[in-house]
Amino acid sequence: MTVNKVDVVIIGAGASGLMCAATAGYRGKSVLVLDHANKAGKKILMSGGGRCNFTNMDASPKHFLSTNSHFCISALRRYSPQDFVDLVDRHGLNYVEKTPGQLFCEHSAKDLLAILLTECEWAGVTIQLNTVIDKIEDVLKDSQVEQDGAKSVKQIHTSSGVIECDSLVIACGGLSIPTMGATGFGYQVAEQFGLNVLPTRAGLVPLTLQPSDKERFAELSGVSSDVTTAFDDTQFTEPMLFTHRGLSGPAILQISNFWTPGHPLSINLMPQQDIKAELTQLRQDAPKATLEKWLTKQIPKRLAQVLVEENHWQGPFSDLSNAKIDSISEQLSNWIIKPNGTEGYRTAEVTLGGVDTESVSSKTFEVKTVPGLYFIGEVLDVTGWLGGYNFQWAWASGYAAGQFV
Ligand code: FDA
Repeated sequence: MTVNKVDVVIIGAGASGLMCAATAGYRGKSVLVLDHANKAGKKILMSGGGRCNFTNMDASPKHFLSTNSHFCISALRRYSPQDFVDLVDRHGLNYVEKTPGQLFCEHSAKDLLAILLTECEWAGVTIQLNTVIDKIEDVLKDSQVEQDGAKSVKQIHTSSGVIECDSLVIACGGLSIPTMGATGFGYQVAEQFGLNVLPTRAGLVPLTLQPSDKERFAELSGVSSDVTTAFDDTQFTEPMLFTHRGLSGPAILQISNFWTPGHPLSINLMPQQDIKAELTQLRQDAPKATLEKWLTKQIPKRLAQVLVEENHWQGPFSDLSNAKIDSISEQLSNWIIKPNGTEGYRTAEVTLGGVDTESVSSKTFEVKTVPGLYFIGEVLDVTGWLGGYNFQWAWASGYAAGQFV
């Protein structure tokens, strides 16, 4: 059996893996990146509607969900959004700030992927695609190696032979979008080495409606409205989109990270207004005007029509009692929807949960109990909000590990 030897093997040629590879390569390490896909960085290419929202200038630990909320602090501090912007600036990438802090490629996510691949090339990294990983063996337990006091050695059995390395980095992401190459491989490796894997679920994902609601809102498919979605103490004011399956758009994707199945969501359909005060004033100033007409000017017409019909809100403002104004105001500002579920990993942007960060060093990303084994990126139990935070985590964790492998 021929065994090829490198300093570092990285499994996963995605965002975090490529960043880690270039960082380690520049330190003079021999680095081999393995991926079973036929292309590197597939998720980068499909992200941000093909233009990749590659960072968020406001990224801070509060934008990340994790059972261990302190874990992300160190890496995010050591590699900031500005550090990534400096990198893309050196390559002359054109980018735009769509909403405050959110940076997207001006033309195509391909430009960003090209930068990462160029960095890897300059750093002498080898990227080997179409490679299936069959098995990982830790030859640390080999008594000879242990007695020598040498660093642990990992053997990776692949479809193209066996590779040995001192440092093995698991950068194979989460479960979202299996058609793009996502697998649970990283979790299996974690379990193989005795690490805890926290329950996973789809995040940044559209929510589906109960069958009766699906029917009620079927005609609203394609309607988008600025709303505030709220669950427990968390809320987001962003656009919401009705789809033929349920609810989507940034306001829904954001809250999906926090929503727990079986519970209702509160949606404020007119978040910028004091509805009660406005209706009370209108009853006095324009008694003959109708609620229906007013509502179609405040929210999308089709949505207004459905609400008016369902709630029998026809008639002039003069007919509105104080109690009725209270109830209309409550309905519009605290519209309760009980989702049926999520669309799942098929469309989710991220995976919540994952490898328990308690077992991993927040400085080096090395597993505390397994020298030479590292986990970075989305496979870890760290998930960002929508808005470029997840890529910032990939860059920051990849960079941090790249300095220690
Ligand atoms: P990533 O998923 O990038 O890479 C993992 C790699 O491992 C893949 O190349 C895969 O093929 C490989 N792999 C998996 N299993 C393997 C196995 N068994 N053997 C070998 N290789 C294996 N974030 C953001 O900040 N801004 C955005 O605009 C978007 N937009 C977006 C859109 C869509 C549709 C999705 C699905 C996701 C986003 N994201 C995002 C999230 C972002 O893409 C994600 O968080 C990062 O890509 C995670 O980087 P990783 O390196 O951890 O995994």
